[in-house]
Amino acid sequence: MIDKKLTTIRVGVVGCGYWGPKLVRNFQAIPGADMHIVADTREERLEHIRGLYPGVRTTTDYAELLRSPVEAVAVVTPVSTHFDMAREALLHDKHVLVEKPLTTDSDEAQELIELAERRGRVLMVGHTFEYNPAVEYLKNYVANGDLGRVFYVDCTRVNLGIFQKDINVIWDLAPHDVSILLYILGLAPSRVSAHGAAYVQPGIEDVAYVTLGFPNGVMADIRVSWLDPCKIRRITVVGSKKMIVYDDVEPSEKIRIYDKGVEAPPYSDTLEEFRLSYRYGDITTPAISEAEPLELECKHFLECIRSGQPSRSDGHVGWQVVRILEAAQESLRAGGVAQEIAW
Ligand SMILES: NC(=O)c1ccc[n+]([C@@H]2O[C@H](COP(=O)([O-])OP(=O)(O)OC[C@H]3O[C@@H](n4cnc5c(N)ncnc54)[C@H](O)[C@@H]3O)[C@@H](O)[C@H]2O)c1
Repeated sequence: MIDKKLTTIRVGVVGCGYWGPKLVRNFQAIPGADMHIVADTREERLEHIRGLYPGVRTTTDYAELLRSPVEAVAVVTPVSTHFDMAREALLHDKHVLVEKPLTTDSDEAQELIELAERRGRVLMVGHTFEYNPAVEYLKNYVANGDLGRVFYVDCTRVNLGIFQKDINVIWDLAPHDVSILLYILGLAPSRVSAHGAAYVQPGIEDVAYVTLGFPNGVMADIRVSWLDPCKIRRITVVGSKKMIVYDDVEPSEKIRIYDKGVEAPPYSDTLEEFRLSYRYGDITTPAISEAEPLELECKHFLECIRSGQPSRSDGHVGWQVVRILEAAQESLRAGGVAQEIAW
């Protein structure tokens, strides 16, 4: 009898620039995956892959990958190519993992969702942080009510480079924070505004400030930049009972929970009563699994193919993220005027 769980899934990866080889490495190592073929238009990148994994087939022609017997395709090419690449793969009845963001247009994201449904194929987006154990911890901490009512969230994702040519910094870096926010808060924003500026490449914003307003009153601010001397990957969630900081650059203590808060008495007759009461409690640093998020993401993709269960970061979540980025882009063009999103 064939155990469905042990069936090997043949995988093809298209795009092996900066990020693609990391997926190849993971699919190569995961039991039950056969890292079969890699496509890239640049022969030197394929030579690099052959040097690392002599058993992996390579091609400069994506059509050859699609004709090969792979069941699953990971699209790791520049963002502007995602829609065409993913559409072609689905039309060839492949399960598809598309890097973030799913597309550059929400109608196109919707088209991919419908195509995947019609073909009975998994469509998943590489929202890597949804598979990050620290983000998982943050989500559970918020969901358990340990933080109290969430007041606001501050996200900073800045460093020097990597400058992209086909998208601005919002489309490059903010998908991470937007997908994290949707995941930990469990709801989508109703209002988006953005400011930004293009300092290095004309017309391509390299610095941006995006603000999301949620229907429950939560505000989230996202600062993204390719033009900062320091690498910062930090998310602060401020709640009514506790405050939590997730610092992805921190090697071991990625999560710090601050037992800090402030209470204002409802009525006050004297100055003493009026004074706010500040609480300065302990700082705790929980142990967080060191599992590689990308490995968990790749395994989840294979599990979804085997089980037919919807992915945590499925096409719908991918579409939501693209819708929010579009609203941010519209606000940017309108000089920061807030855009309402009707879901
Ligand atoms: N999840 C993450 O944390 C994360 C991190 C970095 C990048 N990414 C995503 O990965 C994707 C790729 O980013 P990158 O930084 O590796 O870009 P990159 O430019 O370094 O690599 C892209 C590769 O795609 C190849 N390519 C382009 N068009 C092709 C085609 N038609 N056929 C075959 N190959 C083609 C290029 O030759 C290049 O080698 C983007 O969507 C990006 O957003 C995700």
